[in-house]
Amino acid sequence: MLRQLPEVSDPNLLVGLSTTDDAAVYKMSDELALVQTVDFFPPIVDDPYAYGEIAAANALSDVYAMGGTPLTALNIVGFPVELPKDILGRVLQGGMSKAKEAGVLIVGGHTVDDKEPKYGMAVTGVVKPGSQVTVDAAKPGDVLVLTKPIGTGIITTAGKAERVDSEVLEGAVRTMSTLNRAASEAMVKVGVNACSDVTGFGLLGHLRNIVEASGVGARLTLSDVPVLAGARELLDDGIAPGGTHRNLESIDPIVAWDASIDQNSRLLLSDAQTSGGLLISVEPARLDSLLAELKTLGVETRSVIGAIVESASLSGGKRIEVLP
Ligand code: CO
Ligand code: CO
Repeated sequence: MLRQLPEVSDPNLLVGLSTTDDAAVYKMSDELALVQTVDFFPPIVDDPYAYGEIAAANALSDVYAMGGTPLTALNIVGFPVELPKDILGRVLQGGMSKAKEAGVLIVGGHTVDDKEPKYGMAVTGVVKPGSQVTVDAAKPGDVLVLTKPIGTGIITTAGKAERVDSEVLEGAVRTMSTLNRAASEAMVKVGVNACSDVTGFGLLGHLRNIVEASGVGARLTLSDVPVLAGARELLDDGIAPGGTHRNLESIDPIVAWDASIDQNSRLLLSDAQTSGGLLISVEPARLDSLLAELKTLGVETRSVIGAIVESASLSGGKRIEVLP
């Protein structure tokens, strides 16, 4: 929809609306650029504190995906006047705890009366101009690394329908509330070519953003993609959010699927994520240092899931090949 707005261009606007990057980058001086982003959404879990944590981790993630350091945040809140205020208090406490963990100050915010609760943040960070990590510089030969398992859309949808084990739901909540800070610091230290965090468009949708912006193709190996415990079984029970089905429909024309890959696996790779991991495109010579650095900084999931290829090597207008 943003494409319908007049194009914004300015010599100091290093990253704006013209790409599918996660945040905008505005140069203040040769040494300093602002990184700005905003994200908010309705509750995806029942526990208000966990919801606050997840919403904050998700909002901060778009700064981390650009290799930036978030500094301040403003709360954005929609809340029904008739609901008890202590619920909102728990949401805000959850958000505050994640901000604190990130070293980010919540310096203000705004609340409106809203039928359905909503929470998120507008986040401001910094990056050295030119060292921002964008979606448009992946190179053929690069290796793709993913830093969180997928399946949060399927599991939280099952959670809303009360059709999920508490253990499975807790696994998803733990993943979603984990900051992408350590993963971002590792990629900045090592130096990588491109990155996006994996959120609403799903793993394949965010990979598509990278390959289209970079003018390349990609090859993904399904069995190498980390998946949250329980997600597969829920898919087999017919549970997948509407957004996941729409993601698959939208990505399908550009994906060459190995014939052995069934419909549920295709849905899984398209599953709409909240606060997903970083999808990083790194040159092969730096892969080992990236994996080592991720490990040192405590990033549990460090999965090599595929590679970037020349777009011409995929036939029939396909951009992404998925192997079993
Ligand atoms: Co993002
Ligand atoms: Co976002």
